[in-house]
Amino acid sequence: MSRVYTLLKLNRVVKSRRIKNLGIFILHSFRQRYIAIFFDPVLACNFRCKMCYFSDPEYRKKMKGKFEQDDLPKLAKAFFKRVLKLQIGCGAEPSLYAHNNEIIRLAKQYRIPYISMTSNANLFNSRDLWELAASGLDEITLSLHGVTKESYEYFMTNGSYEKFLNALETLTAVKEKYPAFKVRINYTVNNDNFKELISFFDCFAPYKFDILQIRPIQEIGNSEYNIFSWNALRDAYDDVISKLRQDCAERGIVCITPSKNDLENHDEVSDASIVESTYCYISPQYIWKKDFNIQEDTFNSYSKKHHLGRRLFKNIFSKKRQINDRRQKLNYTID
Ligand SMILES: C[S@@+](CC[C@H](N)C(=O)[O-])C[C@H]1O[C@@H](n2cnc3c(N)ncnc32)[C@H](O)[C@@H]1O
Repeated sequence: MSRVYTLLKLNRVVKSRRIKNLGIFILHSFRQRYIAIFFDPVLACNFRCKMCYFSDPEYRKKMKGKFEQDDLPKLAKAFFKRVLKLQIGCGAEPSLYAHNNEIIRLAKQYRIPYISMTSNANLFNSRDLWELAASGLDEITLSLHGVTKESYEYFMTNGSYEKFLNALETLTAVKEKYPAFKVRINYTVNNDNFKELISFFDCFAPYKFDILQIRPIQEIGNSEYNIFSWNALRDAYDDVISKLRQDCAERGIVCITPSKNDLENHDEVSDASIVESTYCYISPQYIWKKDFNIQEDTFNSYSKKHHLGRRLFKNIFSKKRQINDRRQKLNYTID
């Protein structure tokens, strides 16, 4: 665990992308851990959130498949020794998958230092949440698009506010037994649900969680809600964010919010070379690279065949590029 924190800290402290790319090249050459896996074990969602691409019927038609349980040990063998962080559920809903505990068991077996999951949590019952923590999940992120029942159920179509609160209540008890287990709430804000953050703790004060992350809406697809402007966020920023920060500080909750500067620079995104080198997306339809074959390849054998080391070396001297894959943009701003 401490190695991950050191690397994450280094990543924040080191501003030069050349030095970051050099670090990645060295970690790669010495067969160390440096990749982050974003794993959607099932391509479906029980919700149709209005801000999300799952509200688009055309998108939903393309999203199908479950990762074969028999392939999980192969996946682990092929990748997990090189993985720094495993994120289960990023573009779809992981609670629809029956073998999450098996994924976590394998991740622990291969000593992945940080295992997290992102979910709307409505399908998890109390036993499921206890089991996730017991099997070694380090962090669960719960998605939230409204403070009140009315706005939660409006923006998170098919969602039940009561079920969300039940999950928070269970996680509050889980945290008593597993204090290192982190609970994070990811609140996606738009012009119409931003101001209600002022009364966040009127609703959520009884529950214990570690991090509240406020993330402005992004255009990630043909979503039903399509106001992507951040104007209202900028206008009410001081009133809403400063109160929220203060409320969080009083409760010992880490509050992660965009800075005013982030809101001004709507299009500022991570450097593509670093994201591409460390980002590994896995789903029932796609494993890392288009031509990667889980029955034959491993991360090491594929990297060797395709001269990945040489490409990582060239990145040290390349010019900055911006990423254009919406999945990567979405995932990379979660943390
Ligand atoms: C697409 S969801 C999939 C994971 C899971 N089903 C869930 O609800 O957490 C991943 C994250 O993206 C957030 N999200 C949804 N629509 C978004 C948008 N338009 N802009 C930014 N984030 C969004 C969700 O709140 C969630 O935290």
